[in-house]
Amino acid sequence: MKLLVCEPASSISFGNDLCLCFKAYLFTFMNGKKSQTLVFMFNQKNNLLYLVLRAKYAPIKEDNFMETIQTIMTRRSIRTWTNEPVTKKERKIILEAAMNAPSAADARPWHFVMIDDPAVIQQFTSMGGTEMLEESTLLILICGEPAKEVYPGFWPQDCSCAAQNMQLAAHDLGLGCVWVATHPLEEREQICRRVLNIPDSIVPFALLAFGVPNEVLSPEYRYDPSRIHSNTWEEK
Ligand SMILES: Cc1cc2nc3c(=O)[nH]c(=O)nc-3n(C[C@H](O)[C@H](O)[C@H](O)COP(=O)(O)O)c2cc1C
Repeated sequence: MKLLVCEPASSISFGNDLCLCFKAYLFTFMNGKKSQTLVFMFNQKNNLLYLVLRAKYAPIKEDNFMETIQTIMTRRSIRTWTNEPVTKKERKIILEAAMNAPSAADARPWHFVMIDDPAVIQQFTSMGGTEMLEESTLLILICGEPAKEVYPGFWPQDCSCAAQNMQLAAHDLGLGCVWVATHPLEEREQICRRVLNIPDSIVPFALLAFGVPNEVLSPEYRYDPSRIHSNTWEEK
């Protein structure tokens, strides 16, 4: 065994304390290939260094969070909501999940416009097929800022990663969410620009509607082996 790298990573919350997180890469040479990541966390309050075994983001996992795979496999688009608001804490978690998404060259070319004023929400209900938005208590418009890109052209993928994180975070919190198509529908982009005063340099990408679900949709299992290709496209 050999310790190769020990690098400081980002601050993350650990209970009520703020900890500095240190990542270490531990390579085992038993089979020449296997590697494992260990995470050390330094608690600034009591000056203790913690070793987090099997680093699976356990420090930021709350007891009642679903397992990741279960969250992914049970998420559905929810289009009916009660009038209960999405709390401040839930909004923060959704935005944290959004901004923790991967992005090309870590460019993070995104912005999030929070919309919870019913009078503003109302202005999105006439776009066609969007009447259900009237029931939503929170819309978040994900916008792309191409000028923030390091490698041009990737901002839609980056924003999509953020969008998916937000949908999964909402589901994990027991909230319902639906993605309302915006980019590249010119007409919808224009409505977003007009209603929200969005500058020309910013592209309205996706409108996500959130709320406390007023419907239960059963999970769908969509695994399709015919879409998998091994080593070459052709079937044997
Ligand atoms: C890029 C994208 C655009 C979408 N646009 C809409 C939309 O405009 N209106 C809508 O009701 N659902 C929209 N959806 C949700 C899809 O209809 C939904 O994800 C799909 O039917 C699968 O159902 P599920 O999300 O419940 O698994 C969109 C989803 C994606 C990823």
